[in-house]
Amino acid sequence: MKKLEQIYEGKAKKVFATDDPGIVIVDYKDDATAFNGQKKGTIAGKGVVNNKVSNHFFRLLESKGIPTHYIEQLSDRETAVKRVQILPIEVIVRNRAAGSFSKRMGVAEGTALACPILEFSYKNDELGDPFINSYYVRALNLATDEEMEKVKTYSFAINDILSAYLDALGIELIDFKLEFGRSEGKVILADEISPDTCRFWDKATGKKLDKDRFRRDLGDVEEAYHEIIRRLMGE
Ligand code: TMP
Ligand code: ASP
Repeated sequence: MKKLEQIYEGKAKKVFATDDPGIVIVDYKDDATAFNGQKKGTIAGKGVVNNKVSNHFFRLLESKGIPTHYIEQLSDRETAVKRVQILPIEVIVRNRAAGSFSKRMGVAEGTALACPILEFSYKNDELGDPFINSYYVRALNLATDEEMEKVKTYSFAINDILSAYLDALGIELIDFKLEFGRSEGKVILADEISPDTCRFWDKATGKKLDKDRFRRDLGDVEEAYHEIIRRLMGE
């Protein structure tokens, strides 16, 4: 497989075409942004951690029957994935109150929830990823009802798989964001699952091991990313 021209650059990744029209290469950067790009910085080694951690989770999910875009890790920062048409919907799963949920609902961070929450926002930086529900999705033709059924089923299944897996490593999965894509008429998991897109709290100490250390200037940012890769892969 040959890496060809860059076709897209996002806030944390670049995407390159290949000589296979069904495959693209994702290249993870160390750039970090928060609050819709208003806060900018660099987290040394983040691209490597996110590439390896995301691939580790995607392989685990594939082994449990969740279809994903993952094909093959090519280097520390590069991974070959299936080319998909991304659904313009950010899916957030919450197990414990935190972040924007705590702010919006006036519920202290860390408060237990009676059941997991599934939340959707419209993937549009200019609009600040506004909150939407399944009626918005249907009314604006963002995805079909069948696709949304898959999105919901997969999201809760992913939550169960990752929560149990991380719990055994002493990490609580507080919340996370997923993106799905269409590939050959099917919905599959795409984008990444990493400390950029999840809240991971150490079970013993409550220490935040994720991008909140960068968003909130908590210090030890690189250490937190490395702690995650160490617990997951022993690196
Ligand atoms: P929130 O509490 O800020 O809404 O974030 C919920 C989860 O989603 C958290 O684990 C971080 C992740 N997330 C992203 O991956 N990308 C984003 O743009 C936002 C706002 C949140
Ligand atoms: N990365 C996102 C942004 O800059 C938000 C975040 O993760 O906090 O918009």
